[in-house]
Amino acid sequence: MRPKELPERRTREAEPPPPVERRAQPCAMVVFGASGDLTRRKLIPAIYNLDWDHLLAPGFALVGYARQPRDHHQFRQEMLAAVDRHSRRPGDPLTWESFAKRLHYCSGEYDDPKGYAQLADLLADLDRRLGTEGNRLYYLATPPSLVPTIITRLKEAGLVSPRASGRGWSRVVVEKPFGRDLDSAMALNQLLTAVFREDQVYRIDHYLGKETVQNILVFRLGNGVFEPLWNHHHVDHVQITVGESLGVEGRGHYFEEAGILRDMVQNHLIQLLTLVAMEPPAAFEADAVRDEKVKVLKALRPLTDEDVDRLVVRGQYGKARVGDQTFPGYREEPGVAPDSSIETFVALTVHIDNWRWAGVPFFLRAGKRLPKRVTEIAIHFKRVPYALFRSAGCGALEPNVLTLRIQPDEGISLGFGSKAPGPTIRIDQVQMDFRHAAAFGDAPPDAYERLILDSIAGDSTLFARGDEVKCAWSFITSILDAWGRHPPPEFPNYAAGTWGPEAADALIRRGGTRSWREPS
Ligand code: NDP
Ligand code: BG6
Repeated sequence: MRPKELPERRTREAEPPPPVERRAQPCAMVVFGASGDLTRRKLIPAIYNLDWDHLLAPGFALVGYARQPRDHHQFRQEMLAAVDRHSRRPGDPLTWESFAKRLHYCSGEYDDPKGYAQLADLLADLDRRLGTEGNRLYYLATPPSLVPTIITRLKEAGLVSPRASGRGWSRVVVEKPFGRDLDSAMALNQLLTAVFREDQVYRIDHYLGKETVQNILVFRLGNGVFEPLWNHHHVDHVQITVGESLGVEGRGHYFEEAGILRDMVQNHLIQLLTLVAMEPPAAFEADAVRDEKVKVLKALRPLTDEDVDRLVVRGQYGKARVGDQTFPGYREEPGVAPDSSIETFVALTVHIDNWRWAGVPFFLRAGKRLPKRVTEIAIHFKRVPYALFRSAGCGALEPNVLTLRIQPDEGISLGFGSKAPGPTIRIDQVQMDFRHAAAFGDAPPDAYERLILDSIAGDSTLFARGDEVKCAWSFITSILDAWGRHPPPEFPNYAAGTWGPEAADALIRRGGTRSWREPS
């Protein structure tokens, strides 16, 4: 194993095992598409880190399923390389040795019953030898087009057990994109729920597994001081920014089918919006939380074509030179049509028509090839009602802004005015700042670690429910439909390395003095 240059890291032995109730139940996790990018970069490193943290039961086994023939040994070697390359922790020989014994491989076509029969034999063998107890977690890490086939074949092979069968539980984790519009998402929901009950279906959105995203509810509802201010009486508007400095990184084919509205807004940004806007649930458990999120989605003001024209801006990046580097335009990326009209940037104004948020606009933006990678939620509070210090020569005071920094540089800051030292009254903006790394040390676990652990534990709080996905698609589909009826703007309309097209600035400026916050 290649040693990593991280000598100061603790070894696994130095870390005590967690309390038993945090460990996952015994089960066999079957990863379909085990030769793919997601498995290599995210799933295997996440499971390795769960093992490092002693969070996997002794009766946990992973079965990789893909078309190419490999034996267990070859599969383990490939996964070792994946851990070595992508794990947040170094490949520790002792952890690896025990972890490798959990890994198995089954080759088969996705549409051939023979492959599923072999899988059934292997799973039965693992039940006997390793004590996986008939519990099955099926993780669909394949292109979405294969999902219906795999679900159907699993059912036909008798690999999906209902709760009451006494044969252990079966659950399925479905990756994004969950459909490409309202109709296809509904068809997929129907197919899944014909085979699995809703509580067996885990629709993953990895943003919900991020520590800082989970902290949104803790911050709001675990502290007494913020929630009383969290409404239209005190909040002027909210900005949610998800910026990426990278382009489409070899995923041009996929992006041509998706665009950023489907890739980022329908799922990640809408999830952030619901967590910021929802009412406190009656209990911190899956259905109570998701009921409240659905209420927010149902309160989103529907968009007519004319609204879309006014309230939604789309952009596509063009070639640019930044410093001494030249970045290609989207249309020059591999797999992208030279006249593509797919958007790589979107900014929109969202209104939530309910008691709490009446009159408070939420401005959302997401884009590729922006100046930096940053995800943040900025709550802009109303200005003070009376300019007391005007007589002392102070102009308009800046409003308070509370910023939840989701990534990177995870933390929360509150900007407020403070008297600058000196004999006169001068008010400067200062920051009260919480930094996750300073308070808690190590980088937080990867989102996939938390989400895989939860799906093994049967906790779907951090997964999207069918009606949640439906409501999100219903809102997004009205934008897609309006765009389909109107030609896109002249693309490209922003240079790589900038904060999107000028129209996005005009969008937030409209009818007031608001502007996009420059993320720190
Ligand atoms: P890949 O394109 O790497 O495909 C996964 C595997 O599926 C391949 O290794 C291949 O396995 C099989 N496969 C691919 N195309 C076909 C085909 N046309 N017919 C039959 N089998 C095929 O996908 P990813 O790993 O990138 O993504 C998997 C899922 O996760 C997708 O739904 C994606 O949207 C989602 N996702 C991925 C992310 C990522 O970072 N990669 C991030 C978020 C979501 P074999 O041929 O060996 O059987
Ligand atoms: C994925 C999108 O869901 O999220 C990618 O498909 C995007 O296009 C990625 O780059 C961003 O995730 P993160 O965790 O790096 O913000």
